[in-house]
Amino acid sequence: MVRKIGVLTSGGDAPGMNAAIRSVTRVALNNGLEVYGIYDGYKGLLEGRMMKMERSSVSDILSRGGTILGSARLPEFKEDEIQDKCIEHLKENGIDALVVIGGDGSYRGALALTKKGINCIGLPGTIDNDISGSDLTIGFDTALNTCVECVDKLRDTSSSHHRCSIVEVMGNHCGDLALYTAISCGAEMVITPETGYDELEVLEKLRYLDNAVHKSHAIVIVSEKTTDVQALASKISQNTGFSGRATVLGHIQRGGSPTPADRMLASRMGEKAVDLLMDGIGGHCVGIMENEIISLPIAEALERPRKSRKKLYRLFDRLY
Ligand code: ADP
Ligand code: F6P
Repeated sequence: MVRKIGVLTSGGDAPGMNAAIRSVTRVALNNGLEVYGIYDGYKGLLEGRMMKMERSSVSDILSRGGTILGSARLPEFKEDEIQDKCIEHLKENGIDALVVIGGDGSYRGALALTKKGINCIGLPGTIDNDISGSDLTIGFDTALNTCVECVDKLRDTSSSHHRCSIVEVMGNHCGDLALYTAISCGAEMVITPETGYDELEVLEKLRYLDNAVHKSHAIVIVSEKTTDVQALASKISQNTGFSGRATVLGHIQRGGSPTPADRMLASRMGEKAVDLLMDGIGGHCVGIMENEIISLPIAEALERPRKSRKKLYRLFDRLY
């Protein structure tokens, strides 16, 4: 029977991680479990840095971005000996199960620990929305709100100067943040890993928008890692009637107070994680599908193909 659980946040932080820590802590305490907060992800676990969580340890954090536990990346965590050391620290402290809040890399770590006898449950904490076992990840909605607010502002100044704003958004190798931003802002174009990048096509479309549609501005949303946005902005200035300007939104997308949708999602998922551990289940991750909180084996979530966004890309095209 599980008596003491640990909770950690790992990989890139995401708004709503604190809400998830709070939920895990409060639900576990209310069920008579002890809870330990582990600092800085697997790095803190390796160094044995943790604190006993009380009800008050998670007071006033629901509305705060970031993670009170800190997050880190520890590439060496893939190694057997490092994982074994982490397990020693858990055992020394009597911790028999763990909630890992992070992305797919963190899930792989959670699966490795489960295989070595420590039941772990993964919660999808990442702004990228790139976890196949869940329609949504904790932090995505807040990051999307930030992107939309920024792009709306860029549109104002772009219109005044007959400019084309190239806006780079995060997402790692997933185009969701770019696509949802593009639809929500009525962007002229969206470039993601799913659409691919064709420079001539972009320039041709912008010339058409300028000469035939007489647009005062154009907004192109670009997923990070698909093309060099500064170079594209120069090409636009040289080859179309718009002056091109690139804006990289960067880490601003990772901060800020989580939206109510992210607070709800994190609270519901945290509860589910504790329930699973109390049922003696490990190696699973929590997701939301059709507004139901679900769980599935991490191995299955990691292998599933990414959700198809064909319908949303079609919508984007049809809205233009
Ligand atoms: P995210 O969890 O957001 O995808 P990363 O991919 O950076 O972020 O992974 C976070 C951490 O998870 C890594 O720094 C590492 O400690 C751990 N991790 C990643 N991949 C593995 C793996 N294959 N096996 C064990 N641990 C891993
Ligand atoms: O996974 C979240 C994320 O913000 C990605 O969108 C981005 O590619 C990456 O992390 C950035 O990582 P770092 O904070 O290490 O620059």
